[in-house]
Amino acid sequence: MDTFHAAADLGARVSAWRRAGARIGFVPTMGNLHAGHFSLVELARTRADKIVTSVFVNPTQFGPNEDFASYPRTLAQDQAGLAAHRCDALFVPAVDEMYPFGAAASVRVEVPGIAEILEGELRPGHFTGVATVVTKLFNLVQPDVAVFGQKDYQQLLVIRRMTEDLCLPIEILAAATQREVDGLAMSSRNQYLRGEERERAAVIHRTLCAMRDQLRTGRTLAAVEADAHTALAAAGSTPDYATIRRAVDLSVPGPSERGGLIALIATRLGRARLIDNLLLDR
Ligand code: PAF
Repeated sequence: MDTFHAAADLGARVSAWRRAGARIGFVPTMGNLHAGHFSLVELARTRADKIVTSVFVNPTQFGPNEDFASYPRTLAQDQAGLAAHRCDALFVPAVDEMYPFGAAASVRVEVPGIAEILEGELRPGHFTGVATVVTKLFNLVQPDVAVFGQKDYQQLLVIRRMTEDLCLPIEILAAATQREVDGLAMSSRNQYLRGEERERAAVIHRTLCAMRDQLRTGRTLAAVEADAHTALAAAGSTPDYATIRRAVDLSVPGPSERGGLIALIATRLGRARLIDNLLLDR
């Protein structure tokens, strides 16, 4: 696996593959790769001949008080893991390569509606940063298929909407969330958990399962959400939200609606802010 820092060099390699008839799969990441990311590479491999992964900690999707500076950067380890998972090319651009006019002056991609609720409301500008950098990466890599994790469910919807609206000929695939033995969704931010916080973090997936089970017993959406907040707080975390939405667009369902729903949680535990979700079947 070759590592490219310059977009032109990566572009030349991808063009050569394309001329040879290869389908290109793309996995954008911010690095510090774990089994969850590698499952995205594996999924891409089932739909493409050559796989490109990017590692870029994108400054424009972090708020002023967020963890951009401390976000774990582990390039050598990421390269070894990607090579072991038969990734074909790794793209590691510098900030100047992605934002030649400077991050603040860059053209932005805004996605109305879906990017303005939940995470978008709590982290203003976050999804504009994500949509902007993913558009740039799509233009540089020109993949046929790109894979995103379902753990970041709202991000997945934002990317799908953006790709469709900008008429980008790229198939967007969702990869199932990879979990630790106790159900905690794999995330680079799990390493911010200290001591017993790691054990307590299992409350997130436990609560999502309880939301699903309670809904099946006929409890109201409001009661289920209130219980979820209580459970998260009892485990020492501070929930930003524990909510049930329509899976198609994250809008608020009617009181008796039970089909096509998703439960979503964002909660703070020590230094970590963790998100997770669970699709609720009927
Ligand atoms: O999910 C992520 O790691 C990032 O938001 C992404 C999609 C790589 C854009 O920076």
